[in-house]
Amino acid sequence: MCYAIPGRVESVEGRHVAVSYYGQIKRAVNELYSLSPGDYVYAQGGFVVQKVSPAEAEIILSTWKELFFELQELDSASIRPSLMNIAPDSKLAEILKAAEDVKTLSEDDLTFLLSLEKRSEIDALCGAANRLRHSISQSSCCVHGIIEISNNCRNSCRYCGINNSNARLSRYRMSEDEILSAAREAVAKFGFKSLVLQSGEDCARPIDELVGIVRRLQKDNPVFLIISFGEYVGWSGLEALYDAGARGLLTRFETSNPEIFSKLHPDSTLEERLAFIRRAGEIGYLITSGGLVGLPGQNKRDLARDVLLCRELGSQMYSFGPFIPHPDTALAGRRTASEIEMLKVTAACRLAAPPEAVVPVTSAFETISRDARKKAMQSGANSLMLNLTPLKYRAMYSIYPSRAHESESLDAQIADATDLLKSLGRVPMDIGIRTQRAEISTSASTTP
Ligand code: 5AD
Repeated sequence: MCYAIPGRVESVEGRHVAVSYYGQIKRAVNELYSLSPGDYVYAQGGFVVQKVSPAEAEIILSTWKELFFELQELDSASIRPSLMNIAPDSKLAEILKAAEDVKTLSEDDLTFLLSLEKRSEIDALCGAANRLRHSISQSSCCVHGIIEISNNCRNSCRYCGINNSNARLSRYRMSEDEILSAAREAVAKFGFKSLVLQSGEDCARPIDELVGIVRRLQKDNPVFLIISFGEYVGWSGLEALYDAGARGLLTRFETSNPEIFSKLHPDSTLEERLAFIRRAGEIGYLITSGGLVGLPGQNKRDLARDVLLCRELGSQMYSFGPFIPHPDTALAGRRTASEIEMLKVTAACRLAAPPEAVVPVTSAFETISRDARKKAMQSGANSLMLNLTPLKYRAMYSIYPSRAHESESLDAQIADATDLLKSLGRVPMDIGIRTQRAEISTSASTTP
């Protein structure tokens, strides 16, 4: 399976193109090619990443066509009727209805949703999020691959296993060649169209070197590239990395509660973190942010504020993971967030986020629950992440213990993800940007 299907350019307005995937229209920004209606492209993260010849595109599209509509039907069949099993005049029904009408949810509404305890009510919340996901992004699911390029870190974040005071951890730093060859394999051999490069705040790698890696990676591989190196790159580094071709930034604020933030982060402040993320947004990066669920001292209102902070930051991907205590940190022995808490957060993100934002299933969630992917994808999630870090380094990127996919080959991960997408009726393709609900609901009558 390829990690995105190509689409046909329907119309071009300056940098903005409308791309049709068997009649489903998604918007994308084109910075790279001269495009006209009838051309074929791959898009990721709402950006055109590659133009392909009509002959190549048509072969892929004809192999996919039947399956595409089958999967779409399967997904549609999984959507449950509105507000099943809850009283229609209840507060919950009122909030879910407002959310499905894409009305903005308040902090009180989100706190209420995150505090639900009854199974039937949580099911209604997750069902509403799934229905909204379906109405805004239909069967599309974006698939990213992450390469963790170094576990060296200058910081001492209290929860993180790769913090610089963990002397028990063996450290690694992938060389430029190793990074480029992992990226090349992901793109050329496995068809990934979106990559994340992540590391601890590894000061021993100069920013210029990172910029060079990003530039070469972009030159050789048509891909939507997200960087996640923390704040050490600075504002000037953010600009240089953008100029080199990075288009997404993954930096979590971790918690919107300043007191909890300062207890956990001796090396930075919430204000600085937020200023960094906002600066990236101004430069033009697509922002992925979010936080940890179940941190010591965190309550439901904090989580509601986290979700709203994502929205305020203009985040296009809401990335939340459960806090998992690492034995070699100050928070060893604390409790791990539960599957139910994570499902509520996933659904709350979908209901609170603007339509174009993506909700991923995070690897930490997969670590605490075998069914995380399936259940999260049925609670509003529409994005998956596969781990492309070379196996010899993967276990060393020990931000929390026993990470999912720690020793799983890429082939096995791909087979697994493919089976899951097929069983749920999802198609690996771009979600697009600024897509109007009215526009995407026009159903497929034309095929490319
Ligand atoms: N449990 C869960 N997630 C963690 N991270 C770091 N340590 C842990 C932990 N113990 C997450 C942080 C960071 C991301 C790279 O890893 O949210 O942003």
